[in-house]
Amino acid sequence: MAASIVKRVSRVKKLNVSHISARYKLLTGSRHFSTSKQWNNALVLGVYENESTDSIDFTGTARKFDEKADGKISQLLLTVKKPLKCGKTRTLHAVDPEFSSVLVTCIGKRGEGYDELETVDKGRESIRAAVAKAVLQLRELGENEIEVDSCGDTEASAEGCHLALFSYDDLKAEKSRKPAVRISCATRYSQDKNSMEKEWRKGAILAEGQNLSRRLMEMPANLLTPTKFAEIIKEQLADKCEVLVRDKDWAESMKMGSFLSVARGSVEPPVFLEIEYKGRQSDSPLALVGKGVTFDTGGISIKPSQGMDAMRGDMGGAACVAGSLLSVSKLQLPVHVKAFIPLCENMPSGSATKPGDVVTAMNGKTIQVDNTDAEGRLILADALCYSEQFNPSLILDMATLTGAIDVALGAGAAGVFTNSENMWNKLQKASVRSGDRVWRMPLFNHYTKKITECQLADLNNIGGSRSGGACTAAAFLKEFVNNKNWLHLDIAGVMSNSGDVAYLGKGMSGRPTRTVIEFINLMSKETNNR
Ligand code: BES
Ligand code: ZN
Ligand code: ZN
Repeated sequence: MAASIVKRVSRVKKLNVSHISARYKLLTGSRHFSTSKQWNNALVLGVYENESTDSIDFTGTARKFDEKADGKISQLLLTVKKPLKCGKTRTLHAVDPEFSSVLVTCIGKRGEGYDELETVDKGRESIRAAVAKAVLQLRELGENEIEVDSCGDTEASAEGCHLALFSYDDLKAEKSRKPAVRISCATRYSQDKNSMEKEWRKGAILAEGQNLSRRLMEMPANLLTPTKFAEIIKEQLADKCEVLVRDKDWAESMKMGSFLSVARGSVEPPVFLEIEYKGRQSDSPLALVGKGVTFDTGGISIKPSQGMDAMRGDMGGAACVAGSLLSVSKLQLPVHVKAFIPLCENMPSGSATKPGDVVTAMNGKTIQVDNTDAEGRLILADALCYSEQFNPSLILDMATLTGAIDVALGAGAAGVFTNSENMWNKLQKASVRSGDRVWRMPLFNHYTKKITECQLADLNNIGGSRSGGACTAAAFLKEFVNNKNWLHLDIAGVMSNSGDVAYLGKGMSGRPTRTVIEFINLMSKETNNR
């Protein structure tokens, strides 16, 4: 036992971080493919839920395949009495010389679409979940080349597969890693293969953005320091975006006293990232801001140790900004985006900020830091102020900001605080498509009062009591924004997935990256708001 521990430790030590980060370039389902490998071909086919015990309601592709196989698929499915229910699968072998396995997955009732109460497109969600389950089952069987039915929505099908096959096992021994799987769209019976391939690629890129967010969030904080985060972002985005890496001196020169008050407890130097994607000429970019606390101990107001490891994901806002930019740039959306990411650790030390300390933000407002664990709002305050200097048409910030939003909404939806009805409608529309939902929360003066009642300074960084914690945090941020199109997404509740979303494995979720990409896509189509 002791010997194996020693062996393991020495192997982990040997891991070279640049080698690890090189793997970020690789897409789920397309990594480590050796040409000498034997590929086992498998096919995923969709069927709709159908009460009948003597007919199968196939998707277009599945029907054509069944015809080609002389009805063998339907015959085999009908040999058992019970019809397939949504989310259930049947795996068939030796039905076609080309495929070692044909997996039939049920994608729910035909014609399912927008559900008003659920505020989601149920048809698309069922497809994502059904193909996700299918490709995972086939991977378990050792299949490594899988053709997937578009199931009537190619983009959703691609998203489901690529999201499901993600796993963060970069730090594990080769033999314990999930095997590589190549996935492609079953276009063989399509009338318009090109547009199908295009849709598939879009879905894959949406998933790739979210998978980058997940990978960054999952990375341990000793490997993903602010400096390392910036390096990875340069690797990932520098060919499509301009990436500026600002240091502590720069932040000091910008008078970012609020951001620096959080960073001062750590030996890791803070970094402020500024990224620009110019898919079109404009002088009013869309601004994205992301909380990048690479580890949140709480600082002097230290957190309980149980579950503290999850605080490696406290840069989830920053990760989702990076993931969104990756997809937006790969999709070459005609939009101008500027992103602002303050990165630091929140640590307790002899140089850390103490409860009761007063700091001054970039806009001159003074803040009494009553609780050093409410650090996200402190770093965002300066990042929001700075973003305003670029005349943005809108500002969207994302932050794993409060435990209170988790209490309010759980993993059901990201909490959205916005001063714009129009922006809210657009974001919600985007989330219906992506299936990664949002829920609007209040920005009442009621909450502002809680943070402006302060003994020593203009603002205090906690709202006095715990009540309405997510709302007082948002009210605090509001003090640093003048833009009329501001959206703040508190994503602490959706930070990790413990089985709620069927097509995401357990672990850091990368939510709501795809909603934000879709939102930016919608905004890129608006002529008067770019
Ligand atoms: N990073 C946390 C919020 C968080 C909690 C993220 C759970 C993900 C999961 C944040 O910095 C924090 O600690 N907030 C405090 C604020 C409080 C001190 C006013 C909280 O929510 O308890
Ligand atoms: Zn905190
Ligand atoms: Zn935090």
